[in-house]
Amino acid sequence: MKKYSVNDCYIFDLPKIQDNRGNLTFVEGENHIPFEIKRIYYLYDVPSGSERGAHAHKELFQVMIPIAGSFDITLDDGNEKKTFQLNRPNKPLFICPKMWRQLSNFSSGSVCLVLASDRYTEDDYIRDYDSFKKIINKT
Ligand code: TYD
Repeated sequence: MKKYSVNDCYIFDLPKIQDNRGNLTFVEGENHIPFEIKRIYYLYDVPSGSERGAHAHKELFQVMIPIAGSFDITLDDGNEKKTFQLNRPNKPLFICPKMWRQLSNFSSGSVCLVLASDRYTEDDYIRDYDSFKKIINKT
């Protein structure tokens, strides 16, 4: 099983069509996203000071897009932590499997759109940090 590092996760550029009437960004499956998109979900109405995440996924790849507002995503691969500031709708974050993540500092009205490589299954979650460390050390 491949061992991923926080350095395998990165912010990248989506196309941006700039226009005086407002900007437009688009996402094409199998073109801009390095996996087949099987699910889309979004976080919104996040109360001020609230944090999301606090888990890792065993197999899931994700792209998180700050469709509105801004927030921070801290990734932890079990050895190293890295915080990404997401604040432009055309600059999403690609996240590999087995990254413990914490989403914080949500601005008012922010929306996090998530593209995922598979459908929802609780079996793919690691929700306990000690279990996460054990799994990481085994790979
Ligand atoms: P969770 O992934 O823990 O949220 P976050 O990482 O944003 O803090 O999901 C919260 C709840 O929603 C949890 O009970 C599982 C459920 N859920 C689904 O039913 N389907 C989904 O696609 C997702 C992402 C979550």
